[in-house]
Amino acid sequence: WVLMVTAQTPTNIAVIKYWGKRDENLILPVNDSISVTLDPEHLCTTTTVAASPSFDSDRMWLNGKEISLSGDRYQNCLREIRARAGDVEDEGKGVKIAKKDWEKLHLHIASYNNFPTAAGLASSAAGLACLVFALAKLMNVKDDQSKLSAIARQGSGSACRSLYGGFVKWVMGKDDDGKDSLAVQLADEKHWDDLVIIIAVVSSSQKETSSTTGMRETVETSLLLKHRAKEVVPKRTLQMEEAIKNRDFASFAQLTCADSNQFHAVCLDTSPPIFYMNDTSHSIKLWNLALMKQLFSRIISIVEKWNRSEETPQVAYTFDAGPNAVMFARNRKAATLLLQRLLFYFPPSSAADLDSYILGDKSI
Ligand code: DP6
Repeated sequence: WVLMVTAQTPTNIAVIKYWGKRDENLILPVNDSISVTLDPEHLCTTTTVAASPSFDSDRMWLNGKEISLSGDRYQNCLREIRARAGDVEDEGKGVKIAKKDWEKLHLHIASYNNFPTAAGLASSAAGLACLVFALAKLMNVKDDQSKLSAIARQGSGSACRSLYGGFVKWVMGKDDDGKDSLAVQLADEKHWDDLVIIIAVVSSSQKETSSTTGMRETVETSLLLKHRAKEVVPKRTLQMEEAIKNRDFASFAQLTCADSNQFHAVCLDTSPPIFYMNDTSHSIKLWNLALMKQLFSRIISIVEKWNRSEETPQVAYTFDAGPNAVMFARNRKAATLLLQRLLFYFPPSSAADLDSYILGDKSI
């Protein structure tokens, strides 16, 4: 017999960024962060986990290619979930698995991303959150989403925020064992229906400096990070929570852009400096690099100028650790205008390309 569970998890986009760990093994951050989880039909990971007495080892395939599960991050998640497994009974299959049997049963895991892996679109966030959620369902783990988020966190920090939809806060916590470093939902996905998210995927190349290495170097060398974590983020998260609660787009936009800019300033303050917005890595093709620089500076200038010319801000931007840009519009009208402006500067080369700009209702 084979027991199987399939789950789907969207990625999340941080509006108050997580950058820097105080414990690398447990993945404990130096500050709180806040994100928006995308609609599940767009940028998401689909993971199937299967258990069978005929499997002789734990194995995993990502986008059809086998990958190693030997790293600490996967092992920590598998161990934590197995430790919480419950009894499972499937009458149809005549299968009964007792709690303790999960230690001996091996797993096969198949995971697919419907978006570029490791190109700054938080693929690890969706991937690890989905893995933990699917395993918890398969093994009948009774813990709530918040407790599961603390397990997903050990796979990849930002993954803990993808356990919830809507607006999510990763509370950094104080405990050394990381038990209080988990995600909580600030508002569900229906709370702010007008908000439109636009994602421009410039390059699907892998990023040169991984988040993990980048963060380590920032923690070791940046004084600006210390100031950010101690003085800036605590106030900013409170203001962001208020903005979300009141659907106050003006504050949301101002805080989102400011936090993205400070995150990149902190990267630049790292030794050696990290340039995510101006990535000169060899893994990005030259034309992509040129496009990326143009797009980023164009987006910043369109958004900043436009917001200043209106009574109240209409759009916002945020850039993560890779060659893609995320924009927020206060409603569909502003989103359409923003898209028109972007398409004016970056026309699609064919009508077929246009489809990829319009992904659906909430994200474009
Ligand atoms: C820039 O969660 O990928 O996207 O914990 O080392 O796996 P690890 O890092 P990761 O870092 C994401 C950083 C970010 C900002 C954010 O999502 O908050």
